[in-house]
Amino acid sequence: ETGYFTYDPGFTSTGSCESKITYIDGDEGILLHRGYAIEDLAENCNFLEVCYLLLHGELPSPEQLSTFDKTITYHTMVHEQINYFLRGFRRDAHPMAILCGVTGALSSFYHDSTDIEDPHQRMIASHRLIAKLPTMAAMAYKYSVGQPFMYPRNDLSYAENFLYMTFGVPCEPFKVNPILSRAMDRIFILHADHEQNASTSTVRLAGSSGANPFACIAAGIASLWGPAHGGANEAVLKMLQEIGSKDRIPEFIKRAKDKNDSFRLMGFGHRVYKNFDPRAQVMRKTCHEVLGELGITNDPLLDIAMELERIALEDDYFIEKKLYPNVDFYSGIILKAMGFPTSMFTVLFAVARTVGWIAQWKEMIEDPGQKIGRPRQLYTGATQRKFVPQNERG
Ligand code: SDX
Repeated sequence: ETGYFTYDPGFTSTGSCESKITYIDGDEGILLHRGYAIEDLAENCNFLEVCYLLLHGELPSPEQLSTFDKTITYHTMVHEQINYFLRGFRRDAHPMAILCGVTGALSSFYHDSTDIEDPHQRMIASHRLIAKLPTMAAMAYKYSVGQPFMYPRNDLSYAENFLYMTFGVPCEPFKVNPILSRAMDRIFILHADHEQNASTSTVRLAGSSGANPFACIAAGIASLWGPAHGGANEAVLKMLQEIGSKDRIPEFIKRAKDKNDSFRLMGFGHRVYKNFDPRAQVMRKTCHEVLGELGITNDPLLDIAMELERIALEDDYFIEKKLYPNVDFYSGIILKAMGFPTSMFTVLFAVARTVGWIAQWKEMIEDPGQKIGRPRQLYTGATQRKFVPQNERG
């Protein structure tokens, strides 16, 4: 009775599955990737190091990381035809719509990587997706602001390259800002994987039918877009802007408690974490570092966010309902300070989560006991009844 459905391949009635990639203890606020604490990874690794760990199960040696870095860099450029494909969207298309569409279309450009039976092609598909998502995300942004696409550069790190493709312009040299690159890297790490969340479960279910990896990641992007999931970072900024000043916070706290009001505090609460989200704590620290190092000392949205957090954490309702800031609560403030529009926030989440999605997809596909996912239901409709011909219906 714990769930309305049961998954077939190794899933229990609560809709869970077996995995070796990420462990979460929601009560203790623990998040481990292949046994390593997220706090240690965020502090000591770069994003490609964490990508290697998620894909291969071990932290890379310096030589392994150098080879992996070169491999990913090699795949960062997209097929030239994608430049024209992307131009078919309206200029005001949401970047997540573009990312979802173009990612799904990758299978028509990289036919070889759709052969999921070939382990070599499965790894190439993984590399292509990790490498090309930042390029396509930057293209979606450039397209929305009417600036030319910037081709990736092989002399930059993953995070530097993404910032270059997003904010660089052909008419002037691009100056790498180590503060922003380090913050970008850390934000990518904090969003890399998170067990069987809604979008990862979507990727697994799509992949269980044998769909190609590009289609599965496009399905994950679609699921992530929702405001209850990855779309929350964009929703947090909109909420803080709607609150507008600290003295209006009580009005919104009251609304969040009102069962007749659909308003929820964006960036608060979690399906699993019931004390604190360890990522939110690292994100909060990064937020203060980035704004401080950028000389942004009186960000009104940060002031509202800090006061909202303070009030909510002392409020009996939020304490009783175990509602604490999650990973999305502070990320939007950092991303805004870095120059991203709110419409790009969930896109960045998708860029980072691609490695988690594809690592979990590979793990499932390579499980010899894997079968198609087939959720069941608790039927609550009409019992069987006699057919009524049209001329006898009221
Ligand atoms: C992500 O699953 C993952 O791992 C996701 C993620 C990942 O990395 O993949 O961590 C990323 O999606 C983080 C969550 C981002 N979403 C938001 O910040 C949107 C705002 N949060 C809520 O929509 C909500 O908290 C959810 C969707 C995250 C969880 O919703 P649940 O499962 O309903 O939460 P719950 O069961 O713990 O709720 C307990 C109670 C409920 O009230 P009652 O039915 O008991 O009366 O708290 C209420 C909820 O209605 N509640 C809130 C609330 N979140 C839950 N009330 C006000 N504001 C909120 N934010």
